Amino acid sequence: MNTILIGSQWGDEGKGKIIDVLTDKADIVVRYQGGSNAGHTVIAEGKKRVLRLVPSGILHPAKTCVIGNGVVMNPLDLIGEIEELRASGVEPKGRLFISTRTQMVMLYHRALDKAEEAARPVGKKIGTTGRGIGPAYAAKVGRSGLRCGDMLQDDFLDRVREQVAETNERLRELRAKDEDLAIPGCTVKGGQLDAEEIVATYAAAKERLAPYVIDTVAYLHEAKAAGKSILLEGAQGTMLDIDFGTYPFVTSSNPTAGGACIGSGLSPRDIGCVVGVVKAYTTRVGEGPFPTELYNAVDKQDPDGKTMAERGHEFGAVTKRPRRTGWYDAVVARYSQQVNGVDYWALTKLDVLDTLPKIKICVAYELDGTRIETMPSTARELARVKPVYEEMDGWLCETSDVTRIEDLPPKARAYVDRLVELSGAKLGILSIGPARESTLRLAL
Ligand code: IMP
Repeated sequence: MNTILIGSQWGDEGKGKIIDVLTDKADIVVRYQGGSNAGHTVIAEGKKRVLRLVPSGILHPAKTCVIGNGVVMNPLDLIGEIEELRASGVEPKGRLFISTRTQMVMLYHRALDKAEEAARPVGKKIGTTGRGIGPAYAAKVGRSGLRCGDMLQDDFLDRVREQVAETNERLRELRAKDEDLAIPGCTVKGGQLDAEEIVATYAAAKERLAPYVIDTVAYLHEAKAAGKSILLEGAQGTMLDIDFGTYPFVTSSNPTAGGACIGSGLSPRDIGCVVGVVKAYTTRVGEGPFPTELYNAVDKQDPDGKTMAERGHEFGAVTKRPRRTGWYDAVVARYSQQVNGVDYWALTKLDVLDTLPKIKICVAYELDGTRIETMPSTARELARVKPVYEEMDGWLCETSDVTRIEDLPPKARAYVDRLVELSGAKLGILSIGPARESTLRLAL
């Protein structure tokens, strides 16, 4: 059976670990959107690894991994990741394939991302990861993007040179400053990029990556016909989806389940199950509305939110930025269930709440004096809602070493049952700690 795994909130739900756990029932793991803005953390055999582009399935020797056409792939980041894997004894060659159709994030997209974000006035900033994701997707839909298949063509380096020249014009318009454009491996002078340096960088990169580039659509359909089972892993989360998230405070791709077909070339008929990863509380990185927010680095300092941030190690895996934290939002979860067709929840990080005496759940919103139970369609409305809370008792004891759901403290069990009841799908996995072992598999 082929399974899609998606994030149900604003990313950072703990997808890395759940993908790693579900990989044992898959033959092939596919990344279908996003780029190195994502960071999937996996802790296996006591070692912690953060993977940005390569599916974490690579850590399982018998599995094959695919970077699908919906991803925007930074060749330099991918080479770095391949080297890191090799240094730790994992050989990706022969088990990692990149689609000829995958768009590339180039150094000049990163420069544009940073310059555009710097040029946005306060209040309009998105808080991007600075990884070039927006400009790379803009180039894709603007039909000027370079795909991995283009890397293998004779005119590739000429096209790179042309695109650097175009980017330099845009950087002049944006009045980009050198300090805003600091990117490793990229010389910047007077707000301009050095075209020949960039061309030389990609001349070397294409040689390194060429052996991994294949037609992954044909590959996946052959594998499917041979009875292989495919796991499609989403990055970011539903509320960061370019269509269904809190636009414009979103990423530039479709992390939702629909994006998995678009981003891999499998059809909706090929999908057997959708797993939604949802954290037992909520976090968000970057700007944009967050109704149940309790704690952030700017103006909210609620002690329960601080506990979530500290016990949950809520810092971006890629950017190291502190995450904003808040109570579980069942309106978000129900919306996510609908747009993704979630069959099973993988509920994560329950143990982070072990020390809280009272725990709140947002069950509805109040918008301009009216109670609503569905997600408003604009970020402006979402910024105005007030959460309607239910309060439950905390369980005040450790849950990390529980091995059967029946052994959870009754108050923790009541909290889990209530979240599941409010959120519209069955519970498939409960995660109570970062390690693979701290996972209760109920249905998956
Ligand atoms: P971008 O994807 O770098 O363009 O950033 C757009 C928004 O998505 C920002 O608010 C980021 O913080 C957020 N974002 C991007 N990737 C992730 C992720 O992997 N986890 C959580 N938030 C993310």
